[in-house]
Amino acid sequence: MAQAKSGSDRMEKIVSLCKRRGFVFQSSEIYGGLNGCWDYGPLGTELKRNLKDFWWRRMVRERDDVVGMDGSILMNRQVWVASGHENTFTDPMVDCRNCKSRLRADQLPEKNGRKQCPVCGSLDLTEPRAFNLMFKTYVGATEDESAITYLRPETAQAIFVQFRNILEVSRKKLPFGIAQIGKAFRNEINPRNFTFRSREFEQMELEYFCRPENGLELLEYWLQERLRFYRDIGLSSESLHVHKIPPEECAHYSKGTYDIEFEFPFGIQELEGVAYRTDYDLNQHQKASGKPLDYFDEESKQHFIPHVVEPSAGVDRTALALICAAYDEEVVTDEKGKSETRTVLRFHPRMAPIKCGVFPLLKNNELLVRQAREIVDQLRGKMMVFYDETGAIGRRYRRQDEAGTPFAVTVDFDTIGENGPALRDTVTVRHRDSMEQERIAIKELTAFLGERIR
Ligand code: GAP
Repeated sequence: MAQAKSGSDRMEKIVSLCKRRGFVFQSSEIYGGLNGCWDYGPLGTELKRNLKDFWWRRMVRERDDVVGMDGSILMNRQVWVASGHENTFTDPMVDCRNCKSRLRADQLPEKNGRKQCPVCGSLDLTEPRAFNLMFKTYVGATEDESAITYLRPETAQAIFVQFRNILEVSRKKLPFGIAQIGKAFRNEINPRNFTFRSREFEQMELEYFCRPENGLELLEYWLQERLRFYRDIGLSSESLHVHKIPPEECAHYSKGTYDIEFEFPFGIQELEGVAYRTDYDLNQHQKASGKPLDYFDEESKQHFIPHVVEPSAGVDRTALALICAAYDEEVVTDEKGKSETRTVLRFHPRMAPIKCGVFPLLKNNELLVRQAREIVDQLRGKMMVFYDETGAIGRRYRRQDEAGTPFAVTVDFDTIGENGPALRDTVTVRHRDSMEQERIAIKELTAFLGERIR
């Protein structure tokens, strides 16, 4: 297997494939881009959608103790005052006096015990100062202090401030959760590693409310559930790591936090945090708003503020992990003995942007084309399919290998009965990973593919 030699080689190839095949583009590219912002092309959009849909299915639809919500990105400024973000959601920043780079003080290399600028190597740096990561904006026509708010830096706060409403309408009893997927914004000092650290990104968050005595046990439960999720989208157990945050590094209100990490080509990095946040957030909002955010326990007839366990994942980071895990190169030899390198994205079929390519063997044979188009009609609506009639069949397979399409259906002369009745109305299904082919009846195709992509 001709794997890319080093992590940075591999990452370069992945970034180039992402652009070439339309997974990810630089935002506003024709104007020189906008640092930390990305656009997803057709394949990337499908990949993200599959990921979000599967998260929603696992976390909401397959459970009876979780409901969903979809909060606004702009909220009353007081939300961010009460949550602590306005005062404390900061990173330490320094400036390099030599090259004027703006740098995160906690990520600097050291030389002889002194912090060094990673851009020019200078040791002449300013003292660290706190830089708030929230994007400030104004609501309405006046740009004064009273109109200030922020683009949300996490989706979680909308869940806390709607806790009471959702409790009432859903009539759930503890323990129960509220799930949300949506955009979040952070004015990161150094966006880097492609989409890994962006200024605009999406989160998938669950706030799972419980009795105080169950918090620690539920933290362990959610850690295992989330690891199962990552394995079920195709990330191997070996590529996943659990980092227990030492108590002294946890937020002051947290009674335990795990980071779920993945082996990216640029190092082992966080995919998700699973945190036991106690009753901190609901308490803060109850105090600041003066509105009750407690829970009435009918059995004990007691009122109390629920505790919460929060699995909080990044959509973009997970999509990047899926691409990195799927990327492979292998040397294959064709029937004529010619060797070439095949680039293939080995996505789990559940995550693959396109599930099935459909090809007529020849584009100038009306019967082959008609049959292939009928198969597209049969599959469309049930899965993402891609019709392709241009180029040699081997080339069409390779194009789909690079897009990560797990199955390719070819309509050939056997299908239309030109070689006798035995194989009429059957097609070859080619498997992306093994490149093996098998013959399947057209009428069984939907079920055959359907059970493999669920
Ligand atoms: N509500 C808790 C919270 O927001 P976090 O660890 O700051 O916790 C959760 O963020 C997840 O959001 C991270 O594990 C990561 O996947 C994603 N995330 C955070 N900042 C990000 C960024 N700048 N770019 C991409 N994803 C980010």
